[in-house]
Amino acid sequence: MAPHTGRHPVVLIVDDDKNTREGLQRALRPRYDVRLAESAARAMEALADGAVDVMLSDLRMPGMDGLELLKRVQAHHPDVICILLTAYGSVETAVTAMKQGAYDFLTKPVNLDHLDMLIARALRSREIESKNRDLEQQLDNKYGLESIIGNAQAMQPVFDTIRQAAPTQATVLITGASGTGKELVAHAIHRLSTRSRGPFVAVHCASLSASLLESELFGHEKGAFTGADVRRKGRFELAVGGTLFLDEIGEIDSVIQVKLLRVLEERKFERVGGIETITADIRLIAATNRELHQLVREGKFREDLLYRLDVINIPLPPLSERSSDIPALCDHFIREFSVRNGRPVMGITADAVNLLSAYAWPGNVRELRNTVEKMVVLARSDRLTARDVPPNIREAVRGKSAGTGAQATLGEGSLAEAERLKILAVLGTQHGNRTRAALELGISRRTLHRKLQEYRAQGLLPAALAEEN
Ligand SMILES: Nc1ncnc2c1ncn2[C@@H]1O[C@H](COP(=O)(O)OP(=O)(O)OP(=O)(O)O)[C@@H](O)[C@H]1O
Ligand SMILES: [Mg+2]
Repeated sequence: MAPHTGRHPVVLIVDDDKNTREGLQRALRPRYDVRLAESAARAMEALADGAVDVMLSDLRMPGMDGLELLKRVQAHHPDVICILLTAYGSVETAVTAMKQGAYDFLTKPVNLDHLDMLIARALRSREIESKNRDLEQQLDNKYGLESIIGNAQAMQPVFDTIRQAAPTQATVLITGASGTGKELVAHAIHRLSTRSRGPFVAVHCASLSASLLESELFGHEKGAFTGADVRRKGRFELAVGGTLFLDEIGEIDSVIQVKLLRVLEERKFERVGGIETITADIRLIAATNRELHQLVREGKFREDLLYRLDVINIPLPPLSERSSDIPALCDHFIREFSVRNGRPVMGITADAVNLLSAYAWPGNVRELRNTVEKMVVLARSDRLTARDVPPNIREAVRGKSAGTGAQATLGEGSLAEAERLKILAVLGTQHGNRTRAALELGISRRTLHRKLQEYRAQGLLPAALAEEN
């Protein structure tokens, strides 16, 4: 049994009649570790060590009866499988017991083969249940909020809106440039929703032609068009009870836009070539890296559809507006790729992180993730250093820091922030050497020192750059 590998499952027999107890014990002993209790009170004592897998209990006993015992076991030992025995074949009491969570009941005299089968089946289903729980847990870790790294100020509204929107049925529109994490956010909303046990079905709208997309979304009947030789369910149907994620919604053709609008308004659709109307019990999440309001102005996207989609909007900031998350993202991806590629990379040096933090990341988190993967695969030691940073990024950062402060497009807007990022980037490329950094920056070493002290006082100086060298 999964939770108790390497030992016999423990069965507790509770009956006030000695003959029944011992008869059952003889029958079960070869395969189970059998324990006996002559009353419900004794049974509770026997359960206290948490080892019991299955409890077989008589219903009618002096003192606390089987139903009362069942209730207590449910409350204190919910993992124990309870099977009740009744001398009377009193179906009514047995039904009550089932409603209260008993796994099954048997009438006395007990058919021992049947009992054996019942116990085996109960243990198996409990094992499957616990495996499912483990899987659920793994999915939560992979797709829950914990999977989204974001301590930067700019990410807080994202988390707030996810938390607020997830438990509702409202349609969500996720917007943001390529690689900002739109699909990750869609997954998280699903995992945190009441539909988390239902399917999450994603459709990448841009990759399909209009007619393919239509049958992909709505399915088709046999013979609906050439090549439709079987009836096929569409993504809307496959997502029933769960969440449908329409990625790159800005790319869909106007004919499909009309059909989508109808599904959103009426929650109903038909398969291509079909007449049966199907109810779409789905939660819709859409994403786009396009400016939909602009597309509406250009007549390329229906305004009514936009308003149906844009019930709750989650805009994802570009990575350059949350560069303070770069160190944590690097650690996260290093862990991911060192495990996946079997590379013993343990971390990254501060100068490498500073280089990466100063880069503009037009491809956002996806580009950072790809870069870290490359760095891990090609790593020369167990820590990624500035030398492992791809040359194109090193050069882009150097080029930028050689420009004037006004040219620098760094940071969260302000000039002071741009200056700080520039200084840290140059310090990074100079491996923390302040004399050379000051030279490159065209400022005196004293000025550099003063600025670093200011940053340190504000908690804006990475620890690795705090020491002079
Ligand atoms: N905040 C984050 N924390 C951890 N991983 C992230 C984060 N944001 C994005 N990622 C990872 O970066 C990669 C790109 O994210 P995702 O596919 O969700 O982006 P997208 O916005 O859908 O991009 P595109 O527009 O190109 O489809 C994924 O591997 C994702 O897991
Ligand atoms: Mg995507």
